[in-house]
Amino acid sequence: MSHAAYERFPRGERDKRTAVRDSDYLRRLHRNPSPLLLELEQMGHADDVPIVARDTGRLLSTLVHAMQANRILEIGTAYGYSTLWMALAMPPAGKLWTIDPDTERTSIALEFLERANKADSVNVMNQPALEVLPTFPVRNLDIVFIDAIKTEYEEYLELTVPLLKRSGLVVVDNLLWDGKSAAEPTSHDSAATRAIRDFNRTFLNHPQLDATIVPIGDGVGIGSRIE
Ligand SMILES: C[S@@+](CC[C@H](N)C(=O)[O-])C[C@H]1O[C@@H](n2cnc3c(N)ncnc32)[C@H](O)[C@@H]1O
Repeated sequence: MSHAAYERFPRGERDKRTAVRDSDYLRRLHRNPSPLLLELEQMGHADDVPIVARDTGRLLSTLVHAMQANRILEIGTAYGYSTLWMALAMPPAGKLWTIDPDTERTSIALEFLERANKADSVNVMNQPALEVLPTFPVRNLDIVFIDAIKTEYEEYLELTVPLLKRSGLVVVDNLLWDGKSAAEPTSHDSAATRAIRDFNRTFLNHPQLDATIVPIGDGVGIGSRIE
């Protein structure tokens, strides 16, 4: 479409078209993920199991590579799609702990980690996160990735920030919550929507974090521990 034709759309419509055009452009420009990641991504979509957006997986991979992260904690494994993005980017001695009580889902995660030769680097814990976190023994984590029950996000944050090394990152998925975070609040909003809105305020004003939210995938929070 010519620039002049594009300019004829009203501003809001133009913004939407720009966002779609940019995201299509970036999707074409990036290399495809590895065949194993693609297979797992397709399986997640086919089975309607929630997994991070591909852009979010890519971001996690870049962060793990940049930090040479070798101690990672993940809350919410599902089929292990985000786990696999991070495990593939970890240095050889890296270790990733991932929590999800759903053994049916995590058996798929384990199968793919085996196929990627990463099963020895990943410890899957099949318990609710709020049972594991209060006594989780590892300190000086490089990255904590939060992607489980939305109404528990604030508790995950408070329990995991002390586990991070200084400059370590807490990364959080779904902070735009499919447009619901930014929508005008109503009395019909779900508990999850209200929890995410409250979480976003807590996260961005957390005294121990330098935090931001980037509009990638479903909205990804990135906070670095500064105190
Ligand atoms: C959005 S999915 C995780 C997706 C995964 N991070 C990915 O991108 O491949 C959320 C997962 O949280 C898990 N979950 C539910 N209750 C939980 C709890 N109490 N503690 C930890 N995980 C929980 C669900 O079983 C589900 O698989």
